[in-house]
Amino acid sequence: MNSNGNSASGQAGHLTPASELPSTIGLRPDFIWGVSTSSFQIEGATQEDGRGPSVWDVYCQSGGVKNHDTGDIACDHYHRYREDVALMKQLGVQAYRFSVAWPRVLPLGRGSVNEPGLAFYDRLIDELLAAGIEPWLCLYHWDLPQALADAGGWTCRESAAWFADYATLVATRFGDRVKRFATFNEPSMFSLFGRSPDTPGRSREDDLHRTIHHVNLAHGAAVDVLREKVPGASIGCIHNVQPCRPSSGSEADAAAATVMGSYWNNAFPDPQCRGEYPASMRPAIDPFVQPGDLARIRRPLDWFGLNHYSPVYVRAEATAMLGFDFGDKPAGAPLTPIGWPIDPDAFGETLRIVGKSYGLPIYVLENGYGSFDEPDPAGAVIDTGRIRFLRAYIEAMNSAACDGVDIRGYFIWSLLDNFEWDQGYSNRFGLAYVDYASLRRIPKSSFRWYADLIKAAQQR
Ligand code: FCB
Repeated sequence: MNSNGNSASGQAGHLTPASELPSTIGLRPDFIWGVSTSSFQIEGATQEDGRGPSVWDVYCQSGGVKNHDTGDIACDHYHRYREDVALMKQLGVQAYRFSVAWPRVLPLGRGSVNEPGLAFYDRLIDELLAAGIEPWLCLYHWDLPQALADAGGWTCRESAAWFADYATLVATRFGDRVKRFATFNEPSMFSLFGRSPDTPGRSREDDLHRTIHHVNLAHGAAVDVLREKVPGASIGCIHNVQPCRPSSGSEADAAAATVMGSYWNNAFPDPQCRGEYPASMRPAIDPFVQPGDLARIRRPLDWFGLNHYSPVYVRAEATAMLGFDFGDKPAGAPLTPIGWPIDPDAFGETLRIVGKSYGLPIYVLENGYGSFDEPDPAGAVIDTGRIRFLRAYIEAMNSAACDGVDIRGYFIWSLLDNFEWDQGYSNRFGLAYVDYASLRRIPKSSFRWYADLIKAAQQR
């Protein structure tokens, strides 16, 4: 950024033509535009100021991530949060969704509190509020304290109490300034594909069903804590909902897609919002459900947090857990550079289904485009593909809103390029490019485009 706030792209004075912007006519006047990130993916400083290790630190040290990348430095947001909040201000977003790293505030997951870790989030929240940006705090975006994983993690029923205690700490410390809280980000993703080792003597399916139920109990317990401790709290959980489609016309693939769909899309929202597990899952879950549990899980919520990227294609695989695996995408389907299908109609379909199934206002808390952006010789990052993607997806959202789906906000994943889990730093989802050598942020073309869209939407 230069002192005029123009990017290094040399496009000073650029204005996106109105015809480039999607229609936002169906959206509410108080619609919220935002961006999302998560702690492990951007913070770095993993060994600083008393933070304890998370399961992702340990997994990275085992060399499991592409290019042996780790979260040790990431985007160095821990030290550069002021610059990042300034970027958001320049973007014009009204809200920022981030997560608290549980092991930064409770290094062993429970017991002694790490004051410097809490102080970091105090500084971040105060900086956001001073910039006029509403903080949306997610309690859990996958960085479980390793000490809790060693004690059995989510496979222990006690994990719900650990999480409630952690939620109490966060609510008490930040609830004077933060009102928007999410309990979990994408519980189905870390339950199905998490990195915890199997429990000796138990099948993976057994561990999975325990995890699903205990995470649901933890959600319910945290909602109660947040309601009690934070007057005026607005609470939800964030689910990854993508249509699961068979990758061929075979009956076996169709059956596998149905099974995958129930675990991926329904295992958490159904009990949380309707007080029941999908019927097909009950025989496997029931052994872990105690009297009163479903009422403990189904606590009143204010909204449904939806993350959506693309449909998932599924094939039957007898040797895989629950008999499903990822299958081939349809030949010729348009894909993002990292290979995810581009299908805005599937987004519209998902919004309609979620709206109808759960009856809650929807905030889209992640949607975005993964690629391999690099600066051009002039230093500009021209990401036209991302702009096209966002335009089509926002159009699809606008149409769903015109049809009466109650959608209240849209947050792009992500503000910055960051640590994309197993793919390390190779996949870039940011509106701002991060040069990992210098840690310099370079707003991409999509950054200016989104800023223009927010401005135009607010002037309507
Ligand atoms: C979502 C995750 C987020 C990010 C995006 C690309 O499933 O919640 O952390 O990795 O995918």
